[in-house]
Amino acid sequence: MNKTLQDINIQNMNIELVAQMFKNYQSNVLFHLEDFDQRRTFAVTYAPPTPVEDTETTEDICINKLRKHVDQLGDGVFGIRFSEPDGPFTLLTERKHDATYAVNNYPLSALKLNFPVKTIYLSNLTELDRLGHQVDLVSYQGPPSVTGTASQATKVAFKYWFIENGMFRKWYELNSWSRLPRDHPHIVPFDSVVLDPHTGGIVGFTTLYIPGGTLHDTNATTRPFRLQWFRQLLSVVDDLNYRYGMMHQDIAARNLVVDENDNLRIFDFNYSIMIEEHYTPDRDDIKGVIFTLYEIITLDERFREVPHEKQDAEAVLGMKWEKHPDVKLDADVEEFRNVLDSWVRERKAKEFFKPTNTWVRWPWMPEPPTVALPTLDRDGKLTGTQMQAPCAILRRYLVLMGQKYWNWERPASYNLAEAVAEDE
Ligand SMILES: Nc1ncnc2c1ncn2[C@@H]1O[C@H](COP(=O)(O)OP(=O)(O)O)[C@@H](O)[C@H]1O
Ligand SMILES: [Mg+2]
Repeated sequence: MNKTLQDINIQNMNIELVAQMFKNYQSNVLFHLEDFDQRRTFAVTYAPPTPVEDTETTEDICINKLRKHVDQLGDGVFGIRFSEPDGPFTLLTERKHDATYAVNNYPLSALKLNFPVKTIYLSNLTELDRLGHQVDLVSYQGPPSVTGTASQATKVAFKYWFIENGMFRKWYELNSWSRLPRDHPHIVPFDSVVLDPHTGGIVGFTTLYIPGGTLHDTNATTRPFRLQWFRQLLSVVDDLNYRYGMMHQDIAARNLVVDENDNLRIFDFNYSIMIEEHYTPDRDDIKGVIFTLYEIITLDERFREVPHEKQDAEAVLGMKWEKHPDVKLDADVEEFRNVLDSWVRERKAKEFFKPTNTWVRWPWMPEPPTVALPTLDRDGKLTGTQMQAPCAILRRYLVLMGQKYWNWERPASYNLAEAVAEDE
């Protein structure tokens, strides 16, 4: 694959400071940084000759240092240590430097589903592409769990967690999406729950992959936006809100796709909530729909760059919408506006959401499972184990106890040196 410098910038965005594992020991600072591309945790130690106070600057120094070298750090490198931002660095390769954690994942029963769900082991998935942070395009042998399409290999989007930080949202998403009907024409079908082959714990889930890009990737300058798709969006939002008792809370072109039968489908239930439990007017889907249509027609995304409570959909409705000259629609802007305005009116006239027996309900994230953790003597030697319920376990403890674990690490998606050479 030909990589450009553009890719390098995107790739570099993949390094994120995850845990605030900040230590100040004899003027050294230590950060644990996650590389989502290689799915590796690096311990980065900055030991300046004279003590530094400002943690924000040292954070940037550490991130920049790792960014520069991250794709050249071979297997078995757990971190780097340096004393000058532009100076040399040493590689930390001893197991004691390994700051990687394994999530203490839940068994299938923790989902409390009262219907069967397909499960698949991580070892049966083949990576085809990287779609986002902890979202891959993968394939497996055999048909998908939705009926109708039988094929040899199935392509699915795999949404997962390999670190505990932020896993709650995906756990919650798995809980809501798996309970939605798989045969709804305007919801991307949920496919399967993905398990770690060593522990049996849940690491994520798959959904049927809809090729062609989102409505944000291929915006209305490349693919004319159809009034019919907008009507389909309104109908699925009504279904989610009234029939299933859910607010999606993240309606945007980037979370909408159009399938091969010209059906608009919604996905990404990361922020979805049960209306009965957690409804907030600031995040009402009516607002999401208004902004989404406005953004598709005008390509102007400014109004959602502020916190939800400051996002003023009424003000946007009160404006005259100027179609961006490059945007193509299959009806006039006025027609889109008429459909939107009458839907908004109808929705506001309706009585507040009333629970029905079709409302989807799902549990909160439970306590982590109880597992054995090592007890150590003063030299770090294993003396025994004790049962505890941690959210995550240091990988080096699993090594110490002789336990098998899933290795999430993978090669960088490109080689920096090659990419630079190609660009020249
Ligand atoms: N089922 C799917 N079909 C097609 N593309 C998908 C699918 N699921 C995810 N994607 C792609 O992966 C990206 C990230 O997935 P998403 O669920 O939106 O994650 P996030 O919560 O990080 O926004 C999407 O913007 C889209 O491009
Ligand atoms: Mg998304």
